Amino acid sequence: VRGIDELINGLVRDVPDYPKPGIVFKDITPLLADASAFARTIDALCAPWIDADPRVDKVVGIEARGFILAAPVALALGAGFVPVRKQGKLPGLTHSQTYALEYGQETLEIHQDAIAAGERVLVIDDVLATGGTVEATVGLIRAGGAEIVGVSVLLELGFLRGRERVAELAALRSLAQI
Ligand code: PRP
Ligand code: MG
Repeated sequence: VRGIDELINGLVRDVPDYPKPGIVFKDITPLLADASAFARTIDALCAPWIDADPRVDKVVGIEARGFILAAPVALALGAGFVPVRKQGKLPGLTHSQTYALEYGQETLEIHQDAIAAGERVLVIDDVLATGGTVEATVGLIRAGGAEIVGVSVLLELGFLRGRERVAELAALRSLAQI
């Protein structure tokens, strides 16, 4: 049986020059479409937390690709699922964070009442690149007084040094690295 890192690296597809010239897009759809690889990936994301005491209260997924992974992790852990969404999508009162992208900027939001102060939160996304998305998400969760127990991603793009940015904020795990 191959290791989870080999499995992920084998099933995440490189798409050159998408969405912009010079960017190599990491497409996780072949991994998601493989039933056993998808199941092993969710198991691996859950493994550090399955017997955690105290347990994880909430799993936060980051729109859009983080949702696909965070929802099954939340179910498996017996935790609630909380979406962090792009600006304007959440109907209630929100906390909001704007951050710089390689080109332009992005704003992420969370419902103010989605997580209670003191709850234990796991953050899930597909890819860690520059770390800006995770950094903004950590800020949103802390604004409500919750505790971040970890940040887990499938794939870490080491050359973009996101780990240096995120590791000082929260415990970071990646199932595979390039
Ligand atoms: C991608 C990826 C991560 C983020 C990583 O999301 O899914 O969320 O970029 O980049 P960073 O570490 O440099 O912040 P994207 O914004 O492309 O949107 P999507 O998930 O909705 O496809
Ligand atoms: Mg994303």
